[in-house]
Amino acid sequence: MRRPSTFLVLVLAGLLTACGGGEDTAPRSAAQGGIRLGFSQVGAESAWRLANTASIEHAATNASVQLDLRVADGKQDNQIAAIREFIAAKVDVIAFSPVVESGWDKVLQEAKDAGIPVIVTDRTVDTTDTSLFATVLGSDFTAEGRKAGEWLVEHFRDHKGPVQIVEIEGTTGSAPANQRRTGFADAIKADTDLKVIDSRDGNFTRAGGEQVMSGFLQEHSDIDVLFAHNDDAGLGAVKAIEAVGKRPGEDIKIITVDASRDGLSALAEGRLNYVIECNPLLGPQLMELVGKVKTGQSIPRRVVVDETTFDREAAKAVLPNRQY
Ligand code: AHR
Repeated sequence: MRRPSTFLVLVLAGLLTACGGGEDTAPRSAAQGGIRLGFSQVGAESAWRLANTASIEHAATNASVQLDLRVADGKQDNQIAAIREFIAAKVDVIAFSPVVESGWDKVLQEAKDAGIPVIVTDRTVDTTDTSLFATVLGSDFTAEGRKAGEWLVEHFRDHKGPVQIVEIEGTTGSAPANQRRTGFADAIKADTDLKVIDSRDGNFTRAGGEQVMSGFLQEHSDIDVLFAHNDDAGLGAVKAIEAVGKRPGEDIKIITVDASRDGLSALAEGRLNYVIECNPLLGPQLMELVGKVKTGQSIPRRVVVDETTFDREAAKAVLPNRQY
């Protein structure tokens, strides 16, 4: 199981500190002191993920939580093995960001049987037994997809004739891929001119986005719009579009999700057209929930983080202080 480059994580953690990042300055708490938290992270596939890992590491240090971080390299088997190790080590709380939605019931039941509370963070799990976890902390991915679709409907309001859309999805089976696809489809369905002509998995990576977009460009001569499920895949696609002599943002309109620094820079330059924020700075809220779960305080079953959207002008305005 590989962890992301320590250097990258340190740089991001340093940046969060240097920027003052109100979100990442959770006070130390006596109640949280000495808590042992096992956290299984998805991988290191995107800028979002690196910022999320750095936020959790930084917040754990601030809250005096002993963090055992395992990075799963995008593999569910690695996450299940890590959770079993946390159970064997009798940690106080387990948290994890599930790479895919389904297939967690057995290992979560093992954690429950061992009396260890589990917090699901970032991505959701698909299970009928909601007693298997204490809460879910993260984004509303369906709303993110819907915001992307709503911008598209508005942008092409006066357009006559069909608009050909391609979609670069996130990791197959993951909550953000499933829910962003659904939200987007719901938002555009009333406008019958807006047609998704192709859709493939780009695995939330730049390389994946570039490869998938190259394939789309070979097979479809008339793409008007790309909806990429994250910035990294969208930026990979920008490279593929430029490689065939087309202008990203002009010849093909591009919507992405995350609002990382690189995504917002491309938006400010006009190579992306609209970016939906997905906030990775979940560390402080996670530590607060960990402290409460450990001390038996009640917590909401679902905690959704606040997020916004960016057009070109909004991107230019926030870029100087963007933390990730
Ligand atoms: O689960 C959040 C998603 O995972 C982010 O949008 C993406 O960048 C990451 O890989």
